[in-house]
Amino acid sequence: MSSILTKRSSHTPPLCGAGLGLRSVHYQTILETLPNVNWFEALTDNYMGSGGLPLHYLEQISEHYPITLHGVGLSLGSLDPLNTDYIQKLKQLIQRFQPRLVSDHLCWSSIDGIHGNDLFPMPYTEEALKHIVERIKQVQDALGQRILIENVSSYVTYQSDEMTEWTFLAEVVKQADCDLLCDVNNIYVSAQNHQFDPLVYLRALPHERIKEIHLAGYEDEGSHLLDTHGDVVHPPVWKLYEQAIEMIGPVATLIEWDTNIPTFSTLQQEAKKAALILEQFDAAA
Ligand SMILES: [Fe+2]
Repeated sequence: MSSILTKRSSHTPPLCGAGLGLRSVHYQTILETLPNVNWFEALTDNYMGSGGLPLHYLEQISEHYPITLHGVGLSLGSLDPLNTDYIQKLKQLIQRFQPRLVSDHLCWSSIDGIHGNDLFPMPYTEEALKHIVERIKQVQDALGQRILIENVSSYVTYQSDEMTEWTFLAEVVKQADCDLLCDVNNIYVSAQNHQFDPLVYLRALPHERIKEIHLAGYEDEGSHLLDTHGDVVHPPVWKLYEQAIEMIGPVATLIEWDTNIPTFSTLQQEAKKAALILEQFDAAA
């Protein structure tokens, strides 16, 4: 696999600046106005059919913008067998659209073939580490390229945990030789829910492997923060993002907004805030 990785990375410039999640309600606006957006992230699972409007639009949009593919279907931490049909379809999508990055999550989402509509956190044990590392390697071998693994937000922890989430994640990246999608909002949400210092988390990650950052809005439920992706990015997450950029450097950053999807111009305003922070870092460097 290493020769394929070297070949790809030497010909593809790194993704940079602020991008937006591609949502079907904005397809027409994007194609009619060709807005000034650095890149779009498509939800892999929405484009796995053999035809239809989503693929039709993605084809057109990808002619104007760099695309990344972000999935929820690999269920990398599950005990169920890897879904080879899903991986094959992902491979076909990669060949067709040549995405700049391909990502999925540090989670499990199925048990005994039943899929939950959520991304459940891993137990942070040596056994689970070995399991998910092996599966990420299998997926990367099947795809012939590295994928990015994203940290999820969580509301529970396991009594069986043997290490912190950040230690687990750093070990996953090292042992599986994968890249990292650092969701700063998810770190903040989990830090509040489990009372840890988000800066300790950020410092522990292998910064050179972080190829993308996610930002999104949460909802304060009183007893906990809920990762809804349905609002603007909140001030404490912007602050943590600035600290992350200072620490990591100007990594390509995506605004994720999946529920109560706003007008395209609202999304652009959020992307501009991220772009400004990235530019400030560049100016200061
Ligand atoms: Fe995310």
